[in-house]
Amino acid sequence: MTRTFYVNGEYVAENEARISVLDRGFLFADAVYEVTSVLGGRLIDNKNHLIRLQRSLAELSMDSPCSDDEIEAIQEELVRRNDLREGLVYLQVSRGAADRDFGFPDDTTPSLVMFTQEKNLLSSPKAETGLSVITVDDIRWQRRDIKTVGLLAPVLGKQAAKKAGVDDAWMVEDGYVTEGTSNNAYIIDENGVVMTRHLGNEILSGITREAVMKLSDACQVQVIEQPFTPEQAYRAKEAFITSASMFVMPVVSIDGHTIGDGKPGDVTKRLRELYISIARERTDFSDVTS
Ligand code: PDD
Repeated sequence: MTRTFYVNGEYVAENEARISVLDRGFLFADAVYEVTSVLGGRLIDNKNHLIRLQRSLAELSMDSPCSDDEIEAIQEELVRRNDLREGLVYLQVSRGAADRDFGFPDDTTPSLVMFTQEKNLLSSPKAETGLSVITVDDIRWQRRDIKTVGLLAPVLGKQAAKKAGVDDAWMVEDGYVTEGTSNNAYIIDENGVVMTRHLGNEILSGITREAVMKLSDACQVQVIEQPFTPEQAYRAKEAFITSASMFVMPVVSIDGHTIGDGKPGDVTKRLRELYISIARERTDFSDVTS
């Protein structure tokens, strides 16, 4: 079955989905995006993804192509048309198409593109075995809090991981881990305390991160928001990552150092199970309480 894509007001077959070569997303990476997970045909935590989308747009003085309700209606229609039960909806907004010039054009219409991807989110084999990661230099720009499509640094990080025969890379700046190439990074010490970098311009404020903070609170797992070094990570009892495309995923090896006993840790497993059980029955994590 060929997928249906959404491009600027129209639902079209994948091989007919087209945007202009003058689109500023294509020429300048002048575009932002969101990835929302889908379970049982339902969008998970989408309101928060759309809040972050609006923030990214505002930070770049970019107009929204339509209201949040309209965007969500298109996401839902795309899920329906593609009969997506489990996977992802990708959406991208660019400043639009205009003759190539660095400054913002005066009157372009933002472009909106969306597509779906099937993905096994619940029964991923890596959730059983855990991921291996390496560390790489964080060579990204200084506004990683904005979810732009300027992703060449993460692409190179992921490729370095692939070449090293591992699953992913954690990026390091000034001696501290910032985050994974497309996920937030966490370690857990021998007392069961979770450590993850504080929010700021250096990392993306993950929607899954926010949910996991609430879940940790609810099950009395202490989280400290502060940077950690690769050396601290090597000595951690557990490690994991979070993202809309992985939920909570254990990490069992960092730069060749085995984490804990080399198997997904208990706290990580608990957080993953809790995240999934709530995601399956609700659309967001707003009413999670301890
Ligand atoms: N990536 N950090 C970075 C650099 C990311 O690209 C992502 C998401 C996250 C996690 O954010 P969230 O929990 O909101 O998905 C953190 C998406 C999934 C991607 O690029 O495919």
